[in-house]
Amino acid sequence: MPRLSVWMIRAALTHLGIGFLFGGLMLANKGVPFEPSLWRLLPVHIDLLLIGWLLQLAMGVAFWIAPRFSDRPRYGRAWLVWAAFILLNSGVLLNAWGDWSGTPVATFIGWCCILSAGLCFVIHLVPRIKPLAIT
Ligand code: HEM
Repeated sequence: MPRLSVWMIRAALTHLGIGFLFGGLMLANKGVPFEPSLWRLLPVHIDLLLIGWLLQLAMGVAFWIAPRFSDRPRYGRAWLVWAAFILLNSGVLLNAWGDWSGTPVATFIGWCCILSAGLCFVIHLVPRIKPLAIT
């Protein structure tokens, strides 16, 4: 597995752990209410689990298993995926902080980072998706 996929999957698992923790806190608070402000974790829970975990896991695995080039660099323009990795994680953190603290500018910048991450990843992936060449 390429190093970049390892990092993306590690980061995704970290988001999963924190997202589950926040989900558990909200669930406990739903059963036995003890801290009403915990409901503010809901958008953070959603950001962490849908983007930080699910999307990042899919990107990390896709970078690894999508068809490789026969010449070097075999994974194509990997720098675009490094950029996507940094943008996606910064975006999720900014987004989560903006949702938690009620700072819409941070949430907006977070979404811009996440969209840019998606764009970088797609630009990298398109040349790797091609019909199987039988020679
Ligand atoms: C990959 C795993 C998960 C994903 C993608 C996910 C996603 C979501 C989403 C999208 C919502 C909003 C639903 C809505 O507003 O209708 C939500 C709500 C919630 N989630 Fe999760 N979740 C996951 C795992 C968990 C886990 C493991 C827990 C508990 C330990 C949990 C606890 C909650 C709670 C308490 C709510 C609020 C439900 C309510 O509005 O009453 N989630 N989750």
